[in-house]
Amino acid sequence: MALLNHRSGPRAACATAWAGVLFLLVAHPGLAQEGGKDGALAETAARAIAFESARGNCLACHAIADGAPAGNVGPPLSGLALRFPSRAALYAFLWDPRATRPQAMMPPYGRNGILSARELALLTDWLWTL
Ligand code: HEC
Repeated sequence: MALLNHRSGPRAACATAWAGVLFLLVAHPGLAQEGGKDGALAETAARAIAFESARGNCLACHAIADGAPAGNVGPPLSGLALRFPSRAALYAFLWDPRATRPQAMMPPYGRNGILSARELALLTDWLWTL
């Protein structure tokens, strides 16, 4: 359970994101049992959330890594760690883009209940690496 120990550190700013990841591990113990593969599994889960049309459907509007076909309504999603001041800020944007950008056209994934806090936490962690 090294991952759990690592993830339960005092990272107040990312508390919500970490809580989401912990929730996932509790709800799906199989992930935690994969040991060193946990990062890859989290990435696979995040990718599915982003790419599946019934879930995030981010590709409808964005180009993302190896996702296809990519949309061009929104900006390509890369270098996000340079474009947002913190992971928590990226999470907050996904939760409700209009909270910080009143003119945003992007759907408020958290506020409107399109994706759960746990799904948004996984997405945030993955997007931060792109
Ligand atoms: C209906 C189109 C649409 C969908 C679907 C969509 N977005 Fe967006 N997104 C946008 C637009 C447009 C912007 C630019 C800001 C704005 O006007 O909302 C944006 C901006 C962003 C940004 C900020 C980029 C930056 O550099 O400022 C992130 C991060 C982002 N989207 C992530 C996502 C993720 C993750 C998903 C899927 C869960 C998603 N978007 C789904 C339209 C969309």
